[in-house]
Amino acid sequence: MSKIIVTSALPYINGIPHLGNLAGSILPADIYSKYLSMAGRDHIFICGSDQHGTPVELTAIRLGIPPEEYADSMHERVKAALEAFGCTFTYYGKTHTDANMRTVYSIFDALRKNGYIIEAQVLQAYCLIDKRFIPDRMIEGVCPFCNGTHARGDQCDDCGHTLRADELIEPHCNICGKGEIEFRNTKSLMLDLPALSKQIMGFVEKRKELFTKNAINKTVSFVEGGLKPRSISREIRWGFKIPMEGYEDKVFYVWFDAVIGYIGITDEWSHAEADTYWKEGSTELIQFMGKDNIEFHTVIWPAILSGSDLGYILPKRIIAYEWLNSKSVKFSKSRGNGLNIENSLKVLGADYWRFMLAYLLPETSDSEFSPEAAEEIVNKIMNDKIGNFVHRAITIALRNIGMLGDTDSGQLLDGYSDRLDSISKSYVSEFESIRIREALREVVALADIGNELMSGKRPWELAKSGNSLEFSKVMLTALRISKNIGILLWPFANSSSASILKHFGIHSEPKLAMLQEPLNFDSSVPEEQVFYKIGEREISLLSEYKG
Ligand code: MF3
Ligand code: ZN
Repeated sequence: MSKIIVTSALPYINGIPHLGNLAGSILPADIYSKYLSMAGRDHIFICGSDQHGTPVELTAIRLGIPPEEYADSMHERVKAALEAFGCTFTYYGKTHTDANMRTVYSIFDALRKNGYIIEAQVLQAYCLIDKRFIPDRMIEGVCPFCNGTHARGDQCDDCGHTLRADELIEPHCNICGKGEIEFRNTKSLMLDLPALSKQIMGFVEKRKELFTKNAINKTVSFVEGGLKPRSISREIRWGFKIPMEGYEDKVFYVWFDAVIGYIGITDEWSHAEADTYWKEGSTELIQFMGKDNIEFHTVIWPAILSGSDLGYILPKRIIAYEWLNSKSVKFSKSRGNGLNIENSLKVLGADYWRFMLAYLLPETSDSEFSPEAAEEIVNKIMNDKIGNFVHRAITIALRNIGMLGDTDSGQLLDGYSDRLDSISKSYVSEFESIRIREALREVVALADIGNELMSGKRPWELAKSGNSLEFSKVMLTALRISKNIGILLWPFANSSSASILKHFGIHSEPKLAMLQEPLNFDSSVPEEQVFYKIGEREISLLSEYKG
């Protein structure tokens, strides 16, 4: 079977990702990667911190520390928080490394040699105080369209107009705060997208059926808008220096080394393995991202890869998410005080968040998070439907273990084998189509079958009346459902899954093949609750993040 590379968009480390960022890329990628492990597929899951760019340089200047120090300390925080969230990467790297720099330079050299890098002249703000060129978004002034006083050199947030920095009235520099700005001509490096249009169109035509709808639409409208040369150089200090004469004071645009970072991070993980994944023609590259990242992955990144002609594979599937929003709690990334991936774990454990966010995954449209939604999902679905059923089944079995007979060879109730198989099949087919929210609904459907069985057959009464044949059929069915829930829940909520699976002798990562294996019920493991309800305490903690 072919190898698979799963990636999630690399989060900017100019802040701690919030729950919307997590739900919109890393979490579904992690859940999918765990599914692939369960299915026994040869795959790697690559992600990491996107460390370069103007905002990071600006923050570091404000803090008075070198950008690398700031970028690395944020990287460590984000990495630790993602691990606490139960995310298990093959490798979680970062973009500011030697390995990535080597990869960026080799791809850049190849693009240049193949004639896809061109030069242009641009008018750029120069600060006479700081004695340097200043990137557009670090210039502020009055908007020529609405007279708003906080317009930036790329756009005015008050009226939404995009701007050129030289159109601003009374421009001033955001580093020193002074207005001693001059506009000077300087050179810029461009990726020649028009020259690559044949490759780009060919790629889009061939692959777009494997993109999510939003990704197809964005890509088609981007391409139809006309491909223009795209600048890949910036007038800042923080980034990879451009290895070319006349560009000594410039660095690569953050997006250029970020997308290449997927390869550079794999290379840092294992130089020997990197090529066996990235240059093996049959490898499937499956990329998860938020909807604001689409054209970078479906147009610019394939253009970089095919233009370099170094034998790298192109993306196979593009899985783009809409937004998970919240009107009632604050998801702010820039101010460190929102419901981000560090703060949220102080309110509820990782499994609760993973399940809730997967349940609300913005797969086909934006979705909305609120404390009320959390209460509904945790209390009614996780606790009442799933947790209570499993706990009840195991408790009743343990209390009446003598009546159960041989749990490995016993029969399930008529029809249940087929019903359970059909749920497992739908679960697999949802995952194969990368519809993660729908796969989770199959786990809930399984719990529905279990609850219906319990209330229909009332096994506690069968136990009292001594009907051991019927009792054991009902309970073996209930235990089988519990075990299957434990297995299928694993990608979504791995520690809760483990607490179910230890009743069935499974103490490591489950595999889908275990759905077919004997029950292996271990009556020496004491019962314990799988999920707990949330109440006043959690709701009031969540309310502290009200926007
Ligand atoms: N840092 C970007 C963001 O958070 C995503 C970069 S994805 C990559 O929106 F492909 F460039 F890595
Ligand atoms: Zn200045």
